[in-house]
Amino acid sequence: MNPAWLIQQKRDGKELSSEDIHAFIEGLTEGTVADYQASAFAMAVFFQGMNLDETVALTHAMVKSGEHYKLGSVSGPKIDKHSTGGVGDKVSLILAPLAAACGVKVPMMSGRGLGHSGGTLDKLESISGFDVHLTRARFESALSHVGCAMIGQSEKIAPADKKLYAIRDVTGTVECIPLIVASILSKKIAEGADGLVLDVKVGSGAFMKNKEDARKLARTLILVAKKMKLPCRALLTNMDQPLGYAVGNAIEMVESIEILRNDKSSALCSGDLKELTIQLCAHMLVLGEVSDNLAEGRKLAHQKLQDGSAWKVFVNMVAEQGGSVDQIMHPEKLPQAAREIKWKARKKGYISKMNTETIGRILVELGGGRKKASDEVNPGVGLAFHKKLGAAVQAGEPIVTVYAPEKVKLTELEAMFHDAVEISGARKPVPKLIYEQMV
Ligand code: URA
Repeated sequence: MNPAWLIQQKRDGKELSSEDIHAFIEGLTEGTVADYQASAFAMAVFFQGMNLDETVALTHAMVKSGEHYKLGSVSGPKIDKHSTGGVGDKVSLILAPLAAACGVKVPMMSGRGLGHSGGTLDKLESISGFDVHLTRARFESALSHVGCAMIGQSEKIAPADKKLYAIRDVTGTVECIPLIVASILSKKIAEGADGLVLDVKVGSGAFMKNKEDARKLARTLILVAKKMKLPCRALLTNMDQPLGYAVGNAIEMVESIEILRNDKSSALCSGDLKELTIQLCAHMLVLGEVSDNLAEGRKLAHQKLQDGSAWKVFVNMVAEQGGSVDQIMHPEKLPQAAREIKWKARKKGYISKMNTETIGRILVELGGGRKKASDEVNPGVGLAFHKKLGAAVQAGEPIVTVYAPEKVKLTELEAMFHDAVEISGARKPVPKLIYEQMV
């Protein structure tokens, strides 16, 4: 296989053979295909697309580029969830222990913040000592003993994806359905999942801004997963406002802990975050054949939150992965930036629209996300919302509390925030939380 020839073929809209795709990805992994050739390949695919067979071949080649955990030592159904990314999306922190408490094993491989969207690993690392780099043996042991484990992509899991993703991130080729599909699925298959529930986000804070694109992504993910013998379902869910109330790293951990502890006095326990987590859990339980249908799955999920089982699994997971149990028992000990400022409504009305991507970008400016891969994330900064879409506000009433370090200037960020959050005289309908459930 000549990489330049293969790039030309794709550039000219021709179908690539499975053999050529495999050889190209092997070359990328071994270093015989240069990074500039991989970036030209990604751009050619971005413009010309790939059919189903090509996407399956690319996914397969990326799995084959590294180790394939079979997780043979772990008994029971192994079901994972993946979100395409959003703002305030802390579902995984609650869902992994909850689903494990209900009876599936959850081998969760997560990512770091990307652009304006947050990353589960950054949130987990707000707990002192929490280790997201478990060896395969420790990963399997944690799954067997605790029921779930949350780790990052190791050098051994789909290394071709790791390389290609880093190249896509800096060459404007992230938003490309076949490349996204191969990237997500190769990692999930390599980590050893028996089934996968996808949370495909749609809206102003998602990578997919409209339902049409999100539906197409979800359909392709399901089709390719099925061809690769990975049972898969997808939910199309709203990202026109942050999920829950907190946006940040430690602050999202605090919100998750509150739900896991099932504190009924908390407003969080009846909101969108809990509802989506319960529904995703029900799908995981059906996929893992723990529950016969979604209604039964939901019932079991509610029960395991209420009786404290999910919280227990979470505490065990934190201990198993070296995190400070003292901090999660006393969340006020988690990092929090020194300055606390309220951004207030400039007029009376109803919160009618949020540019959620801008909210994610404000967090990055505060230091809670990265502008380049080598940036350090500040776990203590964040935004705690007091109002969500549809809420009534008085002029001067706080919409959000901002936790910021002393050195960050807030004037411009506050202006960005007021541009991003629209207040109108009449209450507009709030978008549905779950648009579609695709099986
Ligand atoms: N998440 C991934 O893992 N890969 C992509 O390409 C996009 C989102």
